[in-house]
Amino acid sequence: MKDHYGRKINYMRISITDLCNLRCVYCMPEEGVKKHPHQKNMSFEEIIDLIKAGVSLGVDKIRLTGGEPLVRHGIVDLVKQIGDIAGIKDLTMTTNGILLTKYAKELKAAGLNRVNISLDTFDAEKFHQITRWGHIEDVLSGIEAAKAVGMKPIKINTVLIKGFNDNEIETFVNYTKDEDVFVRFIELMPLGESSGFAENQYLSNNEVLKRMPQLTPVLDANKTGPAEYYQLPGAKGRVGLINPISKHFCSECNRIRITTDGKIKPCLHSDYEIDIIAHRKKGESYQQILLQAINEKPEKHHINDHEKQVLRNMNEIGG
Ligand code: GTP
Ligand code: 5AD
Ligand code: SF4
Repeated sequence: MKDHYGRKINYMRISITDLCNLRCVYCMPEEGVKKHPHQKNMSFEEIIDLIKAGVSLGVDKIRLTGGEPLVRHGIVDLVKQIGDIAGIKDLTMTTNGILLTKYAKELKAAGLNRVNISLDTFDAEKFHQITRWGHIEDVLSGIEAAKAVGMKPIKINTVLIKGFNDNEIETFVNYTKDEDVFVRFIELMPLGESSGFAENQYLSNNEVLKRMPQLTPVLDANKTGPAEYYQLPGAKGRVGLINPISKHFCSECNRIRITTDGKIKPCLHSDYEIDIIAHRKKGESYQQILLQAINEKPEKHHINDHEKQVLRNMNEIGG
């Protein structure tokens, strides 16, 4: 399926819960999620039907996100049901890793190929501070659990935050020397209630290349995500840069997003949404609804335009 600008849309990102067992300061307010009256999570049945419609239109990559997807009750069963749908080449999840020790084996057996794990610091104190109460050991053992069951490649998502973890750039890059992992630095984006934080602590990913000039670009003919990859000479892993602010990648965008409460977001940085349940009530098929969403996908985001900043928090959209 192609949008108005000729972009092929094959990647569906589904936020399956807005709840999380952490409270990263750039993502969620400390008190957690504000429940909107009448808000209802999409049921597994609705998620599966939507995915099947997407696959019939050319979607072959599915990512489950949150909030924290592993806190949704029945998650392994959901993964299994998705894993059984023919035509999906890549079934993956973005997680904070806290519960991976418990679930990695079952998830792999259910059909999850791999995971992207968020980790913004290697320092236990700082981890506690940025997540407001997390224990870093849980994430580190989660990474090991994912490796042990053969999930590959493991990608670590590190949001670059000025004055917080820019002094760890070298540590993160060096982590890829002996570990077969991809460390991806993500530029902090102004979203929802944490927009002010992003404005004060944003740092361009150019900083990574400035501090680590030994990194050389890795050209990837099968690029399927926004990261641009680099490598240290002889390293087992890679370093990725995800630059939504300094160098937006909208022209290569191949994705649509589904929010926890069943809205299709054609773009992460637009508040324009299509209410799946309301359209279903009018008798439209999932395919028709998806096609409408893709038809209305904007050409590019306006993230740097203060008037047009997104109201939803990241935990409802899923990154
Ligand atoms: P793979 O490379 O396939 O593993 O996936 P990915 O990079 O698409 O997934 P992941 O959820 O790990 O994405 C990392 C982060 O990049 C997201 O959480 C967002 O912060 C950012 N990102 C991903 N897609 C977009 C996009 O379309 N627009 C913007 N602005 N940011 C994005
Ligand atoms: N800017 C950039 N990245 C963010 N993430 C969450 N909020 C933001 C933000 N405001 C990252 C998380 C996770 C992924 C889903 O998105 O750290 O890795
Ligand atoms: Fe939870 Fe991820 Fe948001 Fe942190 S960034 S609060 S781990 S959803």
